[in-house]
Amino acid sequence: MSVTPIDYLMSRRSVKFVRAPGPDDEQLAQILQAGMSAPDHGRLRPWRFALIRGAAIGRLADLATNAARSAGLPLTAEKEANTRRWLAQVPLLLGVACQLDHSNIKIPEHERMLATGAAVTQMLNAAHMLGFGAYWSTGLGTYLDEVIETLGFDGLDYRFMGYVAIGTPIQETAAPERPDHRQFVSEWAGI
Ligand SMILES: Cc1cc2nc3c(=O)[nH]c(=O)nc-3n(C[C@H](O)[C@H](O)[C@H](O)COP(=O)(O)O)c2cc1C
Repeated sequence: MSVTPIDYLMSRRSVKFVRAPGPDDEQLAQILQAGMSAPDHGRLRPWRFALIRGAAIGRLADLATNAARSAGLPLTAEKEANTRRWLAQVPLLLGVACQLDHSNIKIPEHERMLATGAAVTQMLNAAHMLGFGAYWSTGLGTYLDEVIETLGFDGLDYRFMGYVAIGTPIQETAAPERPDHRQFVSEWAGI
């Protein structure tokens, strides 16, 4: 039985453990371009993406680890080793930021963040449709000024929203159980 596009869409799941090859230039362009179809009030295009690849991923791990220690955050040697082991195999990280644009008082700030999140969802789906694994996380100094400023997103003009790791799944994972949508839906029929 063939898998329909809607079935395939619903089979998306996060895949944390990925390795090379990551997307080639054309596939990466498709993934990023899919983000451009996100709903976006006012066409503000608030999303920004930093490509972090190869040796730069190790440098980000150094930066985030040092920043976490300087900030006094609890970071055990075991947690650091696990993170480094994971990242050593990841071919591509996309840093995700939302440009806040304080001059725009017509469209609330949270709508810009929703548009950026929607762009990431588009990209997670595009990565899935191209056969890659992808995973959005907010570790690696996502909330530390030193890290996000080094990535080019100062905390005044941008809200940093984490990283999307993309690559070839290291192992096949079963699709997780999903809740029945009816749990979350009510019908409003007027007053
Ligand atoms: C904004 C955002 C940040 C996230 N940060 C983390 C994170 O730091 N660590 C983590 O384990 N999962 C994080 N997640 C959840 C995973 O990306 C993923 O959704 C979760 O593991 C469930 O897998 P699923 O997408 O297949 O349902 C985050 C999700 C979102 C939307």
